[in-house]
Amino acid sequence: MSKTSSLRCLITAGPTQEFIDPVRFISNPSTGKMGFALAEAALKQGWSVDLVSGPVNLQEPDGAILYPVVSAESMYHQVDALFDACDVCIMAAAVSDFTPIEYSELKVKKDTAKRTIHLAKTIDILKTMGERKQAQFIVGFAAETDNLEANATHKLHAKNCDWVIANKIGEEGTGFGSDNNTITILKKDGTTETHGPTSKLALAQTIIQAISDTLDNTSENTPSSE
Ligand code: CTP
Repeated sequence: MSKTSSLRCLITAGPTQEFIDPVRFISNPSTGKMGFALAEAALKQGWSVDLVSGPVNLQEPDGAILYPVVSAESMYHQVDALFDACDVCIMAAAVSDFTPIEYSELKVKKDTAKRTIHLAKTIDILKTMGERKQAQFIVGFAAETDNLEANATHKLHAKNCDWVIANKIGEEGTGFGSDNNTITILKKDGTTETHGPTSKLALAQTIIQAISDTLDNTSENTPSSE
C-alpha cells in the first residue's frame, strides 16, 4: 500500500462574498468547480477531505466534510482551525482581496448612498498558512490574465508554497466557470509541468496523483531515524 493512501487533505474552493449591506456584496465569478473536482479526486485517492467553500451551487462529493463560509474572514477562521491536522493543503478558492470597512445593517438607499466604498485588505490565508507550515504540502493557485509564469513564481515563493498551479483567465473555454482548463504546475525545485486543455476533473486527478507520487518519493528518500 502507498504511504500516501490515507492522508488528510484541506481544500479551499469557490469565491468569498464581502457584504456592503444585506443585499450587496463584492465578489468574483469563481464557481468552485476546480476545488470540488480536487475534493472528488482526493477522495478517490483514499484521502479524507475537509472542503472549506465559499457560496457555490455545487453538491459536495460524497465523503467530503463541507465547511460552508461566506467572507474571507470566515474562510480564514475555518482554515485556521483545520490546518494543523492536514497533510496536504490545496487553496483553490478565489478569495476577495478587499472587504468594505463599514457594513450597513440597513439596506443603503440609492438616493442617499455615498459613491465611494472604503476597503480594507483581507488576510492572505495562503500566505499565513505558508508561514505556519510544518510538514504540510501546500499548493496555491494563481489565476492570471498576463505574465502567468512570473506572477505565479512570485506567489510560489512569497507564500511559501510547495507548488503553485497557474492558470490563465480571460480566454475562451477555460478559467472561471468553465468545465475545462489548462494549468501549469510550478514547483519549488524550479521545474514546471503543463496539462490540458482538458476537464477540471481530469486536471484534478492529475494534480492529486502528482502530489501523491511526490510525497511517496519524498518519504522513500527520507533517511529513517534507525
Ligand atoms: N489567497 C488566499 N487569501 C487571500 C488571497 C488569495 O488564501 N486573501 C490564495 C488563493 O486561494 C490562491 C492564491 O492565494 O491559492 C493566489 O490568489 P490570487 O487571487 O491569484 O493572488 P493574490 O495573492 O490575491 O494576488 P493578486 O490579486 O495581486 O494576483
